[in-house]
Amino acid sequence: MSSDVDLSRRHFLIVATTVTGTVGAVLATVPFISSWKPSARAQAIGAPVEVDISKIDPGSMVAIKWRGKAVWVLHRTPQMLATLGKIEDQLRDPFSNEPQQPAYAANQQRSIRSEFLVLVGVCTHLGCVPLEKFQPGDPEVGADWLGGFFCPCHGSKFDLSGRVYKGVPAPTNLVVPPHRYVGDATVLIGNDSGVTG
Ligand code: FES
Repeated sequence: MSSDVDLSRRHFLIVATTVTGTVGAVLATVPFISSWKPSARAQAIGAPVEVDISKIDPGSMVAIKWRGKAVWVLHRTPQMLATLGKIEDQLRDPFSNEPQQPAYAANQQRSIRSEFLVLVGVCTHLGCVPLEKFQPGDPEVGADWLGGFFCPCHGSKFDLSGRVYKGVPAPTNLVVPPHRYVGDATVLIGNDSGVTG
């Protein structure tokens, strides 16, 4: 099936991004943070960042920088979404009761649009950057792994909604930052005015 999306791709793709109020747009093919350079002024004030989600293939993820942190936008396939209901008994906070997301993302998908997941890419244990482990059965994580994120520092595991597994050091789900959609093709990270839960 489209399926035929190659879930083994491990690289972050970079899409055109703009910082509100600036004219800077970047399209790059190298890992992001070092190559993505919003203006110093925009960085200093923590301006919202626009991400063109039309450039993100199903099964792929982009990373941008917002307020000094990595923020990921993952385009989930139907197969990825189908995993979310299968592992809730293995998760510490499957229903997002902890305040790790805005109210509008306190659902199974932890998102506004189910196919797009927006997360702060920082482990909730001690702040390492988790790795994308989207391939089911990834040998580094385990044969019963359905895909998600794995923190290499102390082994915390998160599902494809950023929900933390039981029995790992990370205490909470990954953070969903405030965001909203501006038309069909753009998500604005850092501004959710008008979005209701
Ligand atoms: S920092 Fe991620 S598990 Fe410790």
